[in-house]
Amino acid sequence: MKVLIATQKPFAAVAVEGIKKILTDAGHQVDTLEKYAEQADFIKAVAPYDALIIRSDKVDTELLEAAHNLKIVVRAGAGVDNVDLQAASERKVVVMNTPGQNSNAVAELVIAMMIFMSRNQFNPSTGTEVMGKKLGIHGFGNIGRLVCEKAKGLGMQVFADPHYTPEKVRALGGEPVSSTEELYKNCDFVALHMPAKPETIKSIGYELLMGMPKGACIINAARKEVIDEEGLAKAFEERQDLKYATDIAPDNYELLKEKFGNRVFATPKKMGAQTAEANINAGLAAARQIADFFATGNNKFQVNKW
Ligand code: 3PG
Repeated sequence: MKVLIATQKPFAAVAVEGIKKILTDAGHQVDTLEKYAEQADFIKAVAPYDALIIRSDKVDTELLEAAHNLKIVVRAGAGVDNVDLQAASERKVVVMNTPGQNSNAVAELVIAMMIFMSRNQFNPSTGTEVMGKKLGIHGFGNIGRLVCEKAKGLGMQVFADPHYTPEKVRALGGEPVSSTEELYKNCDFVALHMPAKPETIKSIGYELLMGMPKGACIINAARKEVIDEEGLAKAFEERQDLKYATDIAPDNYELLKEKFGNRVFATPKKMGAQTAEANINAGLAAARQIADFFATGNNKFQVNKW
């Protein structure tokens, strides 16, 4: 089978080597399309391939139309909001992700952003410490749980959103709360770890932010779409103490920076999963899943159904 690694933001070279080895040892042919400038370049390249390994690369109807031979797409990572799952199902293309494989890298970045914001983005003015502060985790999946563990190591008190059973939250070291509002009201930091879905898109906005304690900070290593950007700007106008750090620049980032300066921070490019370890873990898992799928039909990590 022909496999294309299509990554606008490439994996570390060592991960690409590992992916190629797994797939060529299994008798497949592997090509790469890295740092492509336009979606049109991806669409132009895709026709001969039976399988794709992607990151945040877009797999939409147009791309699927061009991918006549495609049988499987593996998103090396967690979020599949960049793949049109329905369009893939209609064409009987299996879509998988590699859950948990890049979680530690994202969790470490969240801790780093929390300290970075507490220390005023490393300017020499007096900052604060995270020890003893309250951290709310909104979305208590693979990443949220790792953030919980690391934050507890820093002496923080950690609360988890109410969609998880209190017993499960306690077992993982967190403290349960009874509502999302309470989570935001209670916590000095709230870290976002939910997927972008119709029910989460624009779900964090003015009301929740206005309920937060003085000096509170939102850390977003999830998706920019979960923030109601207008609501955030309005809350920031009214509350001079709120802060926002994100791994995915908001659409209105220039405006927010201009108005609110160092209260807002976005990484230049999404870098949560951009470590050699995460690239190796997620990339190699994707390669193994493809090899196994073609060898045995194993579809354990399939996220679309028909
Ligand atoms: C994910 O969903 O796994 C993360 O957002 C990482 O995305 P990336 O592979 O594009 O860095």
